[in-house]
Amino acid sequence: MHCCKEKKSFVSRVIAIDGPAGAGKSTVAKKLATILKYAFLDTGAMYRALTLKALRQHVNLEDEHALTSLARQTVIDLEGDPMTLKVFLDGEDVSEEIRTLEVTNKTFYVARTPGVREIMVDWQRTIGGKKNVVVEGRDVTTVVFPCAYRKFYLDGNVEERAKRRLKELESKGQKIDAQQLLKEVVDRDQKDMTRKMGALKKAEDAIYIDSTPLTADQVVEKMLQYIKSE
Ligand code: DC
Repeated sequence: MHCCKEKKSFVSRVIAIDGPAGAGKSTVAKKLATILKYAFLDTGAMYRALTLKALRQHVNLEDEHALTSLARQTVIDLEGDPMTLKVFLDGEDVSEEIRTLEVTNKTFYVARTPGVREIMVDWQRTIGGKKNVVVEGRDVTTVVFPCAYRKFYLDGNVEERAKRRLKELESKGQKIDAQQLLKEVVDRDQKDMTRKMGALKKAEDAIYIDSTPLTADQVVEKMLQYIKSE
């Protein structure tokens, strides 16, 4: 349980959202940030961008030392409005490339590396300390911003989450077997929830929302009610 006296006296305000893959965090965070006129901090995009660099440079993904040193030599920037956020890897726009299936399935190596997580957490805190942000990820309510102004855990039934992901991939022209995708979502949940550092779990004081029966706008509405309540 985090007791954060400074919670309300932050110069910048952080709204933090954690939850499993496909629960709708990104969609909801973008909409919320747009309504509140906050920046949007997509922490998953940062882990994806570093994974892309490691794949391009043929870094051994089992080598935590090499991954940590790669992170130290990397600059990742997030720029633009929440709805059209662009991800820059050492100055190159990689917004599309970080969403491929290969990057999605390999990011777990980077995300499980403690040295990489320390660097990512530092970057994320630096950004969150400068401006009002809606931030989403797996450890943003528990590790990165335990004293965030408001914290949410957005969950969803695994079959529903896999269906949403399938739709998203199909809309981008990617073809994937539905059963295979469900297996991958279950596998990612397992990896996200069991890694040694920054594992996905609900913070005690986070507000739990099940997105399964709700549209993204309904989730946003619920969150706004909590955000506005004292
Ligand atoms: O949210 P996403 O699918 O873009 O996340 C990509 C990967 O990064 C996913 O495997 C989980 C990991 N991740 C993490 O470990 N910590 C975060 N704060 C955000 C994402």
